[in-house]
Amino acid sequence: TVVRISDDALAQACGADAVADAFAAAGSAVERVSSWGMHWLEPLVEIDGVGFGPTSADDIAAILAGSSDKGIGKIAHHPFIAGQQRLTFARAGKTRPLSLYDYAASGGWAGLDRARSLSAEALVAEVTRSGLRGRGGAGFPAGIKWETVRKAAGARKYVVCNADEGDSGTFADRMVMEGDPFQLIEGMAIAAHAVGASRGYIYVRSEYPHAIAKLNAAIALSAQIVAPFAVEVRVGAGAYVCGEETSLLNSIEGKRGEVRAKPPLPALEGLFGCPTVVNNVLTLSAIPHILSEGGAALYNSLGIDRSKGTMPIQLAGNIKRGGLYETAFGITLRELIHDIGGGTASGHPVKAAQVGGPLGAYIHPDQFDLPFDYEAYANADALIGHGGVVVFDDSADMGRMARFAMQFCAAESCGKCTPCRIGSTRGVELIDRIRGSGASATDPVAALPQMRNAPKQPPSRAADLQLLEDLCETMKFGSLCALGGFTPYPVLSALKHWPEDFA
Ligand code: NAI
Ligand code: SF4
Repeated sequence: TVVRISDDALAQACGADAVADAFAAAGSAVERVSSWGMHWLEPLVEIDGVGFGPTSADDIAAILAGSSDKGIGKIAHHPFIAGQQRLTFARAGKTRPLSLYDYAASGGWAGLDRARSLSAEALVAEVTRSGLRGRGGAGFPAGIKWETVRKAAGARKYVVCNADEGDSGTFADRMVMEGDPFQLIEGMAIAAHAVGASRGYIYVRSEYPHAIAKLNAAIALSAQIVAPFAVEVRVGAGAYVCGEETSLLNSIEGKRGEVRAKPPLPALEGLFGCPTVVNNVLTLSAIPHILSEGGAALYNSLGIDRSKGTMPIQLAGNIKRGGLYETAFGITLRELIHDIGGGTASGHPVKAAQVGGPLGAYIHPDQFDLPFDYEAYANADALIGHGGVVVFDDSADMGRMARFAMQFCAAESCGKCTPCRIGSTRGVELIDRIRGSGASATDPVAALPQMRNAPKQPPSRAADLQLLEDLCETMKFGSLCALGGFTPYPVLSALKHWPEDFA
């Protein structure tokens, strides 16, 4: 009997290595596979398709004796898994991440083989037909981006994978890189064939050492298969803004991770001034499926309106059953948080969910029927972003969360433009003043009485609230990139739905 246990970083953090060692010591054959994405059950043990979790080394005797009370039945039939439509995560939990045999046996390289049989033009047309949009957050049509690079003049072109997954509560990129690295490499090789690139870079955040190790191993193992295309990993240094494509390109070039003004678009003048495809891990990982026989039509048939295909949604924060849930667009937060996630882990009522990372809006439970769809979220002054859903219970102080958004922006700002660099710091001070806390020595209002003819009273609360809204508008429309431009979303949504938390 083979015992299958994930070697994903989350499973390891929960103690998977000790469980695997204990099974090995008891004489079982242990296979380390990718994670199913049922995080609340890690370390999850699978024997003949049946799952046990969460386990510890103390459980193995009972599991092997058939008397364990940790059984969850057939994993594939578990409602969390059975309800999903997995394409990007089709291999999750099923294959050994660095096994070329497992990859090929589960349909790996079929997309690349087919792509190589097509002209670049036909290949890009197929990606356009699938309706795939950028999964990093902005949702720009992947086929149009590729077509721009394909048509751009340039002796050299590049494919850059953005794996600087910095959004709070997100882990889908990490799971792909650790669990199915060949799929990402295959997607990049297909992109390279489509646009005429011979070199690719995967820019990974330094906080992902397991992913970096897996990618380097997978690149070496698959080098002959994807040749003459060659891929290299580049490791970030901890700046959130390096997830923005132009600062990411600067960082790869060895420069300070500062945002570049657009235009020129990276598609025309990107890495080292050459036409460059910059796509997120999930966008590139969807490509092999789209290129497999009939894949583009299948992808286009899933989802709603202009949001086609599936989205790997990441359930995190205060939620009972957190993990990776891949499904077609159109699902609601009510289904995700209550039916699938089981409500909060604390058992308290849900107060809010932040969708789309630290720059995403706080969604009120009254809005939980909003369908997961780029346009529906944009119309509600919110964003899907990279698909992270972070749940908060009724103990959350939304005024504090709004302050955190400004503070985060101040800490991570690259400093290039004024609305973000200065506005975020003024935003923290303003929220402190509105909440009646933290008027500091550097607070200009505290200094007012010392000035000649200055008013003796600080501005009224109403005036400060108006000033906060004005500041958010300036940041939204005056910032050079999404960091300063989207920080108003969490701030204004918190203010709109929970004004009592600003008292
Ligand atoms: P954007 O809307 O400026 O651009 C989207 C992409 O389309 C870029 O790659 C851009 O170069 C490309 N593009 C635009 N017009 C084009 C054209 N005519 N031809 C070819 N390519 C074109 O958005 P941006 O600033 O790149 O990304 C913002 C998003 O990033 C936000 O929606 C946010 O959700 C997301 N984000 C994601 C994070 C993560 O961890 N994944 C972290 C922070 C933000
Ligand atoms: Fe830099 Fe902030 Fe301006 Fe973006 S918005 S360019 S992070 S200062």
